[in-house]
Amino acid sequence: MSRPARAGAGLLLSALALTACDAREEATAVAAPGDAQSLMLADASARRGAEVFRAECASCHVAGDGFDLAHFGFPDSTILRRAVFHVSQQEAEDIVAHIERIPADAVGRSTPPFETERAADDVDFAVRLFGEDAWPAGVGEEELRAIDPSRIAAAVDLPLWSDESSNLDWMPDRPLPQAVLDGRDRWVQRLLGRYRRDATDENALAVSRALRWHYFAEASPHAVCRPEQGGGAIPDPLECFEGLRWAAAFGANHLLATGGDPGEDIEGSTRLPDTFWDVGQAARAATLHHEGELENDLENWVSWHWVGWIFAPQNHASVYTAGGLSRTGLRRHATFVALRSLVDRRVGSAHPAKDLRNAAFHAPRPWLWNAVDTGIGMLEARAGRGEGPSGDEAEVEFAEALAVTEEVLLRRLGAERAAPLVERVRALRGV
Ligand code: HEC
Repeated sequence: MSRPARAGAGLLLSALALTACDAREEATAVAAPGDAQSLMLADASARRGAEVFRAECASCHVAGDGFDLAHFGFPDSTILRRAVFHVSQQEAEDIVAHIERIPADAVGRSTPPFETERAADDVDFAVRLFGEDAWPAGVGEEELRAIDPSRIAAAVDLPLWSDESSNLDWMPDRPLPQAVLDGRDRWVQRLLGRYRRDATDENALAVSRALRWHYFAEASPHAVCRPEQGGGAIPDPLECFEGLRWAAAFGANHLLATGGDPGEDIEGSTRLPDTFWDVGQAARAATLHHEGELENDLENWVSWHWVGWIFAPQNHASVYTAGGLSRTGLRRHATFVALRSLVDRRVGSAHPAKDLRNAAFHAPRPWLWNAVDTGIGMLEARAGRGEGPSGDEAEVEFAEALAVTEEVLLRRLGAERAAPLVERVRALRGV
């Protein structure tokens, strides 16, 4: 239906390219006239390619301009092969001409975005982090804060940008649904338009927030990610996973294209990588409550939570992030997640007690004592600085998490060994 219109736009663009060519011809005066002409034709083709990409590919390729395909260095042959699923051979060739002109240092298709070094397994992770397979005795807030989780080697496979053989990738398999594009007076479309005219951090964050609203907010007609009352089930795990992957890929693309630091606070407390973590929540819901509905549910849970968590460890409940890791046997990773999250929790929050509880729960037995000792030490330090829970709800949750911590310690260590730790936990509870 849009074909004639596009052909028209293509002709118009070629005409523009031809007039623009006069100047270029002078610049390339040394080249033979034939070369100048083929340059002009290539120019026109690339312009048409940009247009076609936006119209036919951008609904899934969130970059909008094909930056992702250039950045990850997809070969022309692959671009042609994939493009002809959606457009004519000529248009596919135009897209190739366009992508060839996008300035990007191709990082390679097999490099997952944001990957650092990879640890072999859970023990290797610990050895690389602490020099031995043990939670170091006496380690405290300052030492933990000095560890940047986005730079450590983890035994977690991060999603590739594009993987044709599985869903362990950033590329959403579905375009954004019309309901999301059109909802609230075309809110997302308008913000996307603004972003594509002016790709600032603020405009990217606005798109990201609007997408989150559509998927989570009570008032949204497309809140397919919003947990149902009294449980962890969500209305449509696959639609949720796909929509959040779109949002995550959009945020990642912005960071990669602008060279932005994902760990930096852009504005306020919501960051682009929070949508990465959200994808993990969708996969978690699928794993626990919708068996068989999402392929690779547990793998997706772990890898997306990790790639979101490392950039904002203080933003996410460690019960979720650590839970997936522990399920796949990565209990040292889980312990680290809990205690590294605790370090930067906001003043007045109940999270620190929950982090302690989760560390007590997930730490491998030989780690348990030192890890919990570290966690309690951090809670004591926070209390000493007047940073304990504030508000009724936080106080209740805080006390509850500490009560569970006591039980876990008694069960896992036995009354005698647990006694000194339990005493300190009780002091924190004020009993
Ligand atoms: C309906 C969504 C959708 C549209 C529209 C779409 N793609 Fe894709 N594309 C994908 C997905 C999803 C992947 C990731 C790999 C997979 O799951 O098959 C992908 C991957 C690719 C790849 C990488 C393949 C690889 O080797 O991993 C290329 C190149 C590509 N697309 C080109 C295009 C071009 C060019 C267009 C427009 C003419 C386009 N795509 C339109 C969904 C789409």
